[in-house]
Amino acid sequence: MKTIKVAELFAGVGGFRIGLENTENKIFDITWANQWEPSRKVQHAFDCYNRNFTTGEHSNVDIAEVSDEEMKNTNVDMIVGGFPCQDYSVARSLNGELGMRGKKGVLFWEIVRFIQNTRPKYLLLENVDRLLKSPSKQRGRDFGVMLSTLNELGYDVEWRVINAAEYGNAQKRRRVFIFGYLNNSNYAKSIKNISNKEVVLKSGLFASGFPVLEELYKDRENEVQLGHDTVNISDHFSFNFHTSGIIRDGHIYTAHTIPIEETPKTLGDILENNVSEEYFLSEEKIEKFKYLRGPKKLKRTSATGHEYQYSEGGMSPYDDINKPARTMLTSESSVNRSSHFIKDGDNYRTLTPIEAERLNGFPDNWTEGMPNKMRYFCMGNALVIPLVTRIGNEIERIEQEHSDDSIQLNLF
Ligand SMILES: C[S@@+](CC[C@H](N)C(=O)[O-])C[C@H]1O[C@@H](n2cnc3c(N)ncnc32)[C@H](O)[C@@H]1O
Repeated sequence: MKTIKVAELFAGVGGFRIGLENTENKIFDITWANQWEPSRKVQHAFDCYNRNFTTGEHSNVDIAEVSDEEMKNTNVDMIVGGFPCQDYSVARSLNGELGMRGKKGVLFWEIVRFIQNTRPKYLLLENVDRLLKSPSKQRGRDFGVMLSTLNELGYDVEWRVINAAEYGNAQKRRRVFIFGYLNNSNYAKSIKNISNKEVVLKSGLFASGFPVLEELYKDRENEVQLGHDTVNISDHFSFNFHTSGIIRDGHIYTAHTIPIEETPKTLGDILENNVSEEYFLSEEKIEKFKYLRGPKKLKRTSATGHEYQYSEGGMSPYDDINKPARTMLTSESSVNRSSHFIKDGDNYRTLTPIEAERLNGFPDNWTEGMPNKMRYFCMGNALVIPLVTRIGNEIERIEQEHSDDSIQLNLF
């Protein structure tokens, strides 16, 4: 199989790269990566990336500062990246009908510029599942703008919201994965005559890597034909995107699929033994955790001076080690309702940095060398690596079954 040269954007500490380097046939070669933490003097994530990976070119500047020329020179076949959920609305450029203008600083438009400069065969992007519903006042607009833009650039796109715990991992982490491929690729041609519903349920990349039941949740499905004017979509489009879907020829089909769940790993499976004293909590912090996790009814005053009652249900007294962990956030291990609170023997503690790495499937001590707070922060930003490996294996299968090379070879 031919090597696929990959550019990793918004690389963080390299979750996509580890995932792709772990595939069965090892066809992915990450030749270019970019990572830059805005307004931070010390670039912890980049330093970690640079320390762990010794091949390829690693760029540590704002992606907006990377020139078109440099992007072109990367000469990659695939772009991967997890990027922030921002406002993707667009306006018409000053030259009217000829172009459109996204908001400055919105990183999706840098991905688009990278695509325009390199025309890769494949795209693999990841985002929080909220992207499908944003913004709240015009639900689905941002994802609609994104799909329309990629489709206009010549890519068919499949997506799936995946909860890592439902496919065998130790963390409940729901993220949308977005897989784009050139609409004249052999893979696109091979599924051209298969209905959208069947691609989503059976034959598409996500359906074969992450199987789902044949029936839909509450029969929820939806479709719409987009026009070619992305500015018009940005101004008027509102749509109920479900967890799975596809866009091709401007036609969106979406369905609420039901995963065929695999036995998850549990929080207990990834815990370390003999954890250092420094992760055990003082009496004072234990009391704070207990209070934060308990049910509450509080009087609060809004910015406009209006008094209201804020209430919050109680959580279990501590995290259940027989279940998958909850979603890790960048604030993990600070005294916070979202942080994991572990009962260890007769005492209580937070997760260790190694446990945080294990919850995402990173090798132990991947982020060693940065302050602990940053280790948790980087894991809160990262993704669950085995999911990427599974997607990578599916791309390898696609390459094997539908590559242009094999078709040419068949001619002889
Ligand atoms: C959601 S995280 C991706 C994490 C990554 N997938 C991993 O496994 O670690 C997004 C990353 O984009 C980086 N970033 C934010 N703004 C950027 C910019 N303007 N240019 C380059 N990188 C940026 C952040 O520092 C962060 O590491």
